[in-house]
Amino acid sequence: MMDRLNGPPSLMIVSDLDFTMVDHEDPEDLSLLRFNSLWEAYYRQDSLLVYSTGRSPTIYKQLRKEKPLLTPDITIMSVGTEIAYGESMLPDSDWEQCLNLNWNPDIILQETANFPHLIPQSDTEQRPHKVSFFLEKPNSSEVIKTLSERLQKRKLDVKIIYSNGTALDILPKGAGKGQALAYLLRKFKANGRIPLNSLVCGDSGNDAELFTIPEVYGVMVGNAQEELLQWHAENAKNNPNIIHSSERCASGIIQAIGKFSLGPNVSPRDIKDFGKCRVNVFSPGYEVVKFYLFYERWRRAEVEKSDQILQNLKSSFYPLGTFVHPCGTEQPMNKCTYMVERLYGDKQGKRYQVWLDRVSTSQIGSDSWLVKFDKWESTGEERYCCRTTVLLTTKQAEESFTWMHIHQTWLDGLEAKDQSLWFL
Ligand code: GLC
Ligand code: MG
Repeated sequence: MMDRLNGPPSLMIVSDLDFTMVDHEDPEDLSLLRFNSLWEAYYRQDSLLVYSTGRSPTIYKQLRKEKPLLTPDITIMSVGTEIAYGESMLPDSDWEQCLNLNWNPDIILQETANFPHLIPQSDTEQRPHKVSFFLEKPNSSEVIKTLSERLQKRKLDVKIIYSNGTALDILPKGAGKGQALAYLLRKFKANGRIPLNSLVCGDSGNDAELFTIPEVYGVMVGNAQEELLQWHAENAKNNPNIIHSSERCASGIIQAIGKFSLGPNVSPRDIKDFGKCRVNVFSPGYEVVKFYLFYERWRRAEVEKSDQILQNLKSSFYPLGTFVHPCGTEQPMNKCTYMVERLYGDKQGKRYQVWLDRVSTSQIGSDSWLVKFDKWESTGEERYCCRTTVLLTTKQAEESFTWMHIHQTWLDGLEAKDQSLWFL
């Protein structure tokens, strides 16, 4: 994973998922999509994206199927008790070893059985180093106090965390989202790869620990839970590196990137007219993100269909290049303009979204680049994804790219049902 980077990551974002990265009250996922295009256009190449969630691997994977979540570099799950690396989610077994110290779930279950207010969570959420219950708010302080006394008497070093006013987790003392992050930072330091900046993001009780790690910036998103705000008021009020954003969820994360000057903070998705926009970023990653935003708006008929646009399209596709459609057929690139023209407005008024994931660029000549990415489309309930490779070139002294070749293949199990339609 770190091989992708040539040096220390320039920014590491460590974010909770439910109600931080993902807004379950935003059916269009707009703030998440804003974050996605910002990340892929500017940060993917030299930064690290880390999710830190209370969810077990099982229900984390479910969420990834439901929401347009980017692929993270590192996934911390089950409230900081499980760490996994990369796309393949390679588990960190050293971390799990550390947590065995003085940990005994049987004793915990014996003790918790005496509390009728503690309702066990589903089996998927019981993990090797996490025992989880539901607990209603009115009983919470009393139960937590008595339970921790009982567990102390049994000489267990555990940590009790209450989140969302509903969930109670019991973990080894050395576990938790904060400890897992501290562990990662120690590992990076040993390799001389400590990120230049880190930003932690959260909304509820189990995120509080993230904000205690030295030298990180922090954002409690606009919709943060009372329990987190109260923790902050009691423990971290004077830390200028922690803010409570005014915007919700992922939009609050973008706000914090701006507030702490951590890098670009204008999401390409917020740019309505790329032609008029003054931010003229010249990077292959930005180019593909921008193109597919245009493509989404074009198919939704949110941009005007003008000769000027068609002319621009025509001049950005190299006529003699080839386009390999995911079903395997090849077409000359000069057909692409015609094809795009035909698609105008075919998704008008429909739920239709496009986003890119895992954008990576390699320069292969003085004026040419290979850009690879996953192009996702969701239309109604259906979702599909093409692994896409684009060869881009630029002419000297010209501030624009030419698309020479495009090659798409379906990701396994993510083929579109109707493949008769030609699209990019
Ligand atoms: C997630 C987990 C749950 C945990 C809660 C709070 O919802 O699925 O087990 O109790 O986060 O940490
Ligand atoms: Mg949350």
